[in-house]
Amino acid sequence: MTLIDGKAIAQRINEQTRAAVAELTARGVKPGLAVVVVGDDPASHAYVRSKEKTSTELGMHSVKHALPHDTTQAQLLEVVRTLNNNPAIHGILVQSPPPKHIDERAIVEALDPRKDVDGFHPINVAKLALGDADAFVPCTPLGCQRLLIESGIETAGANVVVLGRSMIVGKPMALLLMNKGRGGDATVTVAHSRTRNLAEVCSRADILIAAIGQPEFVKANFVREGAVVIDVGINRVADPSSAKGSRLVGDVAFAEVAPKCSAITPVPGGVGPMTIAMLMHNTVLAAQRISR
Ligand code: GUN
Repeated sequence: MTLIDGKAIAQRINEQTRAAVAELTARGVKPGLAVVVVGDDPASHAYVRSKEKTSTELGMHSVKHALPHDTTQAQLLEVVRTLNNNPAIHGILVQSPPPKHIDERAIVEALDPRKDVDGFHPINVAKLALGDADAFVPCTPLGCQRLLIESGIETAGANVVVLGRSMIVGKPMALLLMNKGRGGDATVTVAHSRTRNLAEVCSRADILIAAIGQPEFVKANFVREGAVVIDVGINRVADPSSAKGSRLVGDVAFAEVAPKCSAITPVPGGVGPMTIAMLMHNTVLAAQRISR
């Protein structure tokens, strides 16, 4: 069983990004990333902090807008419009999910698609579905695909089951894997909470991508002997035995699943660092495209 080291792979990719940032900066285009977070969800703030930290470390111009929970739709739209019009900003990310009173769809549609480094704008969703090379692709599925490529895991002709159908992970993951080319050409099944015989469907996968958002949902009987398992989940669960009182687990019951796999990602240290690396990569792409 191979443990796929997402942290090490992400570090390698970040070094390439650092070089690209230096080159752009020397040309007078310092890549700029703005992250916007509304409300005080601790997990969202933790994600935003690490995005801001990594972008700064890689030499980017980094801006964070932490807005109070009671920010109105109009105020948030105004922040997005201001960032759209700011030439020092090439990538904009509004952390999801926002508070309930915010219409997230309208916020995403207000983004300049050329600055939509999350790949959530309908223009970018359509481009991904069309297989256009200049789509911005959501960072988590892009990171999963890159993990497979960097680990030498062949997707062409493989039976891949994507467990989860969200707009952030499951749907774009399925599109990426079925598109033509490197890291694609797979036979893709999308399974979810309403799928009949879920364990049996998942157990047909050569590659299983777990993105259902439920702690340790995928048990040993979901996984074929020799399968590759990519665990997208980041779930905080109570753990009285740890100093913090909690720990992070994935969507996969790692202890019972790992022995059956040919390769598996750990949580933490698997997909998580790749998501951030792909956000940095997308921001460089945005700066290159806008400055061309
Ligand atoms: N929330 C969970 N994942 C993501 C992501 O990739 N981008 C944004 N904006 N919010 C998220």
